[in-house]
Amino acid sequence: MKVTVVGAGAVGTTCADNIARKQIANEVVLLDIKEGFAEGKAMDLNQTAQIEGFDTTITGSTNDYSKTAGSAVAVITSGIPRKPGMSRSELIGINAGIVKEVASNLLKHSPDIIIVVISNPMDTMTYLALKATGLPKHRIIGMGGILDSARFRYRISEAMNCSPNDIQATVIGGHGDKTMIPLTRLATYMGQPIGDFLSEAELEEVKQKTMVGGATLTGLLGTSAWYAPGAAGGMLVEAIVRDEKRIMPCCVMLDGEYGESDICIGVPVVIGKNGLEKIVDYKLNDGEKELFKASAEAVRTMNASLTELNVL
Ligand code: LAC
Repeated sequence: MKVTVVGAGAVGTTCADNIARKQIANEVVLLDIKEGFAEGKAMDLNQTAQIEGFDTTITGSTNDYSKTAGSAVAVITSGIPRKPGMSRSELIGINAGIVKEVASNLLKHSPDIIIVVISNPMDTMTYLALKATGLPKHRIIGMGGILDSARFRYRISEAMNCSPNDIQATVIGGHGDKTMIPLTRLATYMGQPIGDFLSEAELEEVKQKTMVGGATLTGLLGTSAWYAPGAAGGMLVEAIVRDEKRIMPCCVMLDGEYGESDICIGVPVVIGKNGLEKIVDYKLNDGEKELFKASAEAVRTMNASLTELNVL
């Protein structure tokens, strides 16, 4: 089983590292446009194999897609990251051209590939990859909701002083500071609503901290985060490769589900060997439905710039 990660920056390398350490694939191809860079990262990662106890091989490639041939899954992380004060949407002009070209190059060498999109603005890049390649919707999946939900669970566990592993919580909607929807009403601590443990004010604080999760990190780091985004990419690849049938919040094309069509946006889905296997219909209340509608409108406005930029 071969998995390709495009982009050997911090997110791509963390993702490749995660896939190797968990032995999700026999081979991970790490590809980048910068001469020798992916080869260097691959060499460094391969030299951790004995220490970490894995036998996955990491192959570096400077833009040679023939090395990716026969990949079951590819993760696209390429493009420029956010700088402090920048929104994810400001990256669209540069990243759209890159994501479109990468998706088409991957398909030339792996016609059956399932594509995971991490590049920002993630919802619009997922939509672009789907439209540009014409692939069926189960084969193009945006990762954002897994990351946002992990951050949500972390913030809940921090407020409750408990383990994030005992928290079930989901973020749906767009992967944007203003568009994501942390579903506090449906979040539980081992099955008990978190509202039984946290006050309204505490719930609101958790929600706010989750929504600006990426921006907070960008402010601290001077660039976009990578450990959680890379690990979230690895988690999604694992669910596909191991046919786990796990429910994960991911960005996928909707055809009437949640009242929306012709848009890629975060909803809970079942992930297995076919990629997206099922969209799970959460019973949202009226307030949550309103938020979802507004989130979809914001994503749609961003998608419209693909036409203005002539990439679609
Ligand atoms: C973040 C970027 C990867 O949320 O979108 O950290």
